[in-house]
Amino acid sequence: MAQYGNWIYYPWSNTLLRLLPEDEFVEVRTNRNKLKITQEEQKTLSSKKIAVVGLSVGNAIATTLALERVCGEMIVIDYDEIELSNLNRIKTSLTNLGKNKSECTSQAIAEIDPYIKVHNYVDALTKHNVNEVLFKSKPDIIIEVCDSLDLKVLIRDYAKKHQVPVIMETNDNCMIDIERFDLNPERPIFHGIAGDLSAESLEGLTTEEKVPYILRIVGADNISTRLKSSMLEIDQSLTSWPQLGSSVIMGAGVTVDVTRKILLNQNSISGRFYINIDTIIGIHKSKPPKEKANASDRKSHVPKDVINFINERVSNHSSDYDNIIDEIVNDARKAPSAGNNQPWLIIKYYNHLLICHQEQISNTWGDYAKMGALMSMGGLIETIRCSAVAAGLNAEVVFNVEKSTPLAHITISKLAGEEPDIEAIDRVNKLKKRHTDRVSASTKPIDPFLISQVILECNTITPIVITDKDILIKLANWAGECDKIRIFNEEGHKEFFNELRWNDSELASTKDGISIQDAGLTEAEKAGFYMAKDYESIELIKQLNLGNGFKKISQKNLSKASTVIIYTIKNFNRSSLIQAGGEILHQWAKFNSVDIAVYPMLSIVFMLNRYRNNAIEGLSPANLNMLNEISNDFYKLLNISDESCPIFLMKLSHKTHKVKESVRKDLNEIYIKYA
Ligand SMILES: Cc1cc2nc3c(=O)[nH]c(=O)nc-3n(C[C@H](O)[C@H](O)[C@H](O)COP(=O)(O)O)c2cc1C
Repeated sequence: MAQYGNWIYYPWSNTLLRLLPEDEFVEVRTNRNKLKITQEEQKTLSSKKIAVVGLSVGNAIATTLALERVCGEMIVIDYDEIELSNLNRIKTSLTNLGKNKSECTSQAIAEIDPYIKVHNYVDALTKHNVNEVLFKSKPDIIIEVCDSLDLKVLIRDYAKKHQVPVIMETNDNCMIDIERFDLNPERPIFHGIAGDLSAESLEGLTTEEKVPYILRIVGADNISTRLKSSMLEIDQSLTSWPQLGSSVIMGAGVTVDVTRKILLNQNSISGRFYINIDTIIGIHKSKPPKEKANASDRKSHVPKDVINFINERVSNHSSDYDNIIDEIVNDARKAPSAGNNQPWLIIKYYNHLLICHQEQISNTWGDYAKMGALMSMGGLIETIRCSAVAAGLNAEVVFNVEKSTPLAHITISKLAGEEPDIEAIDRVNKLKKRHTDRVSASTKPIDPFLISQVILECNTITPIVITDKDILIKLANWAGECDKIRIFNEEGHKEFFNELRWNDSELASTKDGISIQDAGLTEAEKAGFYMAKDYESIELIKQLNLGNGFKKISQKNLSKASTVIIYTIKNFNRSSLIQAGGEILHQWAKFNSVDIAVYPMLSIVFMLNRYRNNAIEGLSPANLNMLNEISNDFYKLLNISDESCPIFLMKLSHKTHKVKESVRKDLNEIYIKYA
C-alpha cells in the first residue's frame, strides 16, 4: 500500500505528490459529476481532445474543461506572456507574471488533473504552422478565443477543411458562437455575418480596414452599453477594451457546457447566442420607441394657413406654366439642407408656388433658432427662382416671414419678349452640380485670386477668409469642443444620430439624412460613431469627463484645412437668414464649379449664436464656461464686431474625390398640386 499509485512531480513548485492511479483518480475526482454526467459519458469524454486558442479567456475555459474533465487531452495555444493587467480575469498566481500563458495554463491543468494530456504551444500560430500545430492530430473541438481577426479566420478556414466544430466565446453579454463545420463543412464562417471573408481576403488589409469586419463579427448592435462606452474611449483614455473576471468565468462555464453537449452528441445546433444578465435578472429599462417621421406622415395635406393665404392673397392665376413648374420644383429638390432633412413642402396653385417650412422636420436643439433650416429654405427658394428665370420666366418672390406659413409666395409669369437669361442658365447649371464633399482633404493652398472672385458676389453676407495655420488650429479645437457639447446633450445626440444613415437600404427607405459612407470618416471613426448611437454609452463617458474622441472629426478636418470661410450677417433674424441661405448657395456652387470641394461645418456657429443669445437650456456650467471662452476668442481673433453674427462655416479644399450624389425625397412627398 505504501507504494500504491503514482508519484507526480511539479517542477515549477518543486512539489512531489503521490496520487491514485489514473482510473481510480478519475473515478473519485469526477464522482460528484454523476448523474449530470454518467459514468459512460465520462468515459466517452476521456477519449476526447480539445484545442483552446488564446489563453486569457481561454485560461478559464481550459481549466474548467479540466475541472469537469470534459476531455482526456488538450492543446493550449498562446504565444503571449502573463502581465499584471491580465490578472483581473486570469486566475493565476502573481508568481506567474512574465510566464508564457500556455505554459501557465498547462501547469494549472496539471495541478487539477495530471492525467489529462496537455500539449502547450508557446509560439504564435500562423498560416505556416496552423495545419501542423492544430490539425496534425485532429482535435474534436476547437475553442477559439483569440484577439486576432486574421487568426480567427485562418482557424475557421482550416476547421472547415478538416470538419472540426469551432466554438467562440466573446464574454460581453456572454456571446457564444457555435459553428458545426463537422456537420456542415459548407457553412460560411461566422454564420456568414462577416460576408465573404477568408484568410486571403484579409491579407494586406490595414488594421483600420479590418474594423468593419470586426464590428460585424462582434455584432456591434448587441454589445453592452458599458462596452460601447469603453470602445469610444479606446485610444483616448483606454488602451484596449475591457473584460471582467465575472464575464470570463461565466463565459467559460457556458463554453464548457456547450462543448460537453457537442462531444456527447447531445446538441447539433450552430449559431450565435447571448446570455444577457441585465435582460434576464436586472431591471430591464424599456425605452419608448424612437420617434421617426415616416414617409406617409410627411405626405401632409395642404395646411389650412396656406388655403387661407390663397383665398386672401391670390387673385389672378394661370395654367400656362403647369409643366415647366413641375420641372422647376423637381430640380429644386437638389437644394441642400442641414442634415439633408429637406424641411420643405411646396404647394402649387396654378402659377403660384407656396413654399412652406415644415418646422416639425427641422426642429432640432442643435440648429439654434432654426438658423440652418431657414438658410436651407432660403437656398430652396433661390433655386426655384433661378430655375424659373433660366427658363425665361419671371419669378416674383414675396416673403411672409412673420406669419411663416407659407414662408414665401412665388408667382411665376411670362417675361415680356425677353431672351432666355444666359447668366441664369449658367447659375442653374452650377447649382445642379453643387454638392457637399467631406472626403477631399487636399492641404494645397487655394489661389487667393479665385477666392476673391467668388466672394466678390456676396451681397448681404460678409465672408471672413481664414488661411492662417494657427487660427485654423484654434478653430479646429473650438469646433471640436462644440461637436462634443452637441453629442453630450441628449437632444443633440438624438438628432445627430437621426441624421445618419448606416446603409443603403436605410437611405433608400428614408430618402433623407447623411450616409455614413459620405461622412468622410475612417473605418475606426465610423465604428466609434456606431458605438455612440446609444445615448447610455455617452452618459457614462460624460460622467467620467471623457469623450475627447468626439472632437476628432472637426479637429482633423479644420486643423489641416488650407482655407475656411465663415460668413456673417449683420442682423440675426429670419429674413436675413433666408436671404443669406440663397447667397451662400451660389458661393458654394461657384466654388464647386472650379473644382473646389466644400464641406459645411456649422456646429460652431450654431453653438456660438445659441450662447450669445443666452439660449442656455441644455448647457451645463462647464459647457457655458467653455462657450464663453470660445466666443471671446473667436470674435477677438477673427476681428468680428459685436453686431455681426457668424452663420455659416465652410471648409474649402482642392477636389480630390468624386462623391456620390446625396439622396432626396420623392417629388410627391414634398410637392402638392392644389390646383
Ligand atoms: C444650412 C446647412 C447647414 C449644413 N451643415 C452641415 C454640417 O454642419 N456638417 C455637414 O457635414 N454638412 C452640413 N451641411 C451639408 C448638408 O448635410 C448637405 O447639403 C446635404 O446632406 C445634401 O447633400 P449635398 O450638399 O451633397 O446635396 C449643411 C447644409 C446646409 C444647407
